[in-house]
Amino acid sequence: MENLILAIDTSCDETSAAVTSGRRVFSNVISSQIALHQKYGGVYPALAKRAHLERIDYVLKEALKRAGLPSTNHELPLAAIAVTQGPGLAIALEVGIAKAKQLAVELNRPLIAVNHLEGHIFSTLAQNKNGSPEREIVFPALALLVSGGHTELVLMTEYGQYQVVGQTLDDAVGEALDKAARILHLGYPGGPIIEALANQTNNLPTAKESQNNPKFPFTPPLKERGNLNFSYSGLKTQFFYLVAQMTEEELGDNLKELAASFQEAAFEQLIRKTSDAIEIYHPQTLLCGGGVSANRYLRTLLRRLAREMKIPVYFPTSPKLTGDNAAMIGVAASNKLQRSEFADPEKLDREPRLPLGGKVYSISPS
Ligand code: KG4
Ligand code: ZN
Repeated sequence: MENLILAIDTSCDETSAAVTSGRRVFSNVISSQIALHQKYGGVYPALAKRAHLERIDYVLKEALKRAGLPSTNHELPLAAIAVTQGPGLAIALEVGIAKAKQLAVELNRPLIAVNHLEGHIFSTLAQNKNGSPEREIVFPALALLVSGGHTELVLMTEYGQYQVVGQTLDDAVGEALDKAARILHLGYPGGPIIEALANQTNNLPTAKESQNNPKFPFTPPLKERGNLNFSYSGLKTQFFYLVAQMTEEELGDNLKELAASFQEAAFEQLIRKTSDAIEIYHPQTLLCGGGVSANRYLRTLLRRLAREMKIPVYFPTSPKLTGDNAAMIGVAASNKLQRSEFADPEKLDREPRLPLGGKVYSISPS
């Protein structure tokens, strides 16, 4: 086990630590706070911070143990400590960063700061401890990042070179699914609940079909070709009014169809924008990461698009790699380790709005 990295992510509501080497993951421990935040229907920052503080030491210890490493600091064969710098919740990020700095100083190892979104991109390349699967990334690559906080299209021209070519103007896709579930009084997080309900309808198209037929169609936003930005607030409003004018009985009778129709509209936008981005930038590889990439139906739609466009598409290989986790931070950090791109433990600070690759380019409609 060479170039071992101990990685930490506390950017939102999961406390996570992992041991990785290159793309290989030896342990990936995630302590989820979903149960804590459930009654608020979303993440409550002060609670998140407290839970991170309570759990971080245990999660770190467990990550070392599961990777088969000694628990005494002096014997640890680590090449670096990696941590998420941002974007994320300021007071949550702070907990992981303070711990990573402390470890870097105590163990006298370099510290690597990772952008959380870069982590989600690399989650698609993470391997098990035996180095499987082997995935070739051919540049330029296009990444579609879909989570509760992000909906972005990122063009990657080489390792470490990113250009955000599209992003949401309001809500993220996962947030929209969470809000739709809340409108239906179904609980949190909404994405998996909406997916499960939608799967019970029989009008979800299969991979071979090209026409989808939702019972409740919504007006799609940002329809100009070549506009790669996303918007979900209009969909949410349409959904709210549709549900508001239904009786309890109608709502009960149409629950599955409502979920399927909303999911359809939410993903139609993702597929349309990704398709436009492929036509504009001609990427050689398509990557899709983030909590929403766990959705089987979204995977079906993206696989169909990738087949039509004749490029490979990669998703994270395990459910633990789709949501927030530290293994993806370790995998992203391995490239920085090779380039000796280290952070100063005295200066590293949380960056709640850390951008990926700087400027956002809006492409004018052709
Ligand atoms: O990446 P993640 O765990 O945390 C953030 O960085 O936001 O993503 C959480 C989001 C939530 O909005 C959740 O509803 C959504 O991912 N999600 C899903 C599924 N599983 C989680 N959305 C659709 N289908 C799923 N199966
Ligand atoms: Zn995330």
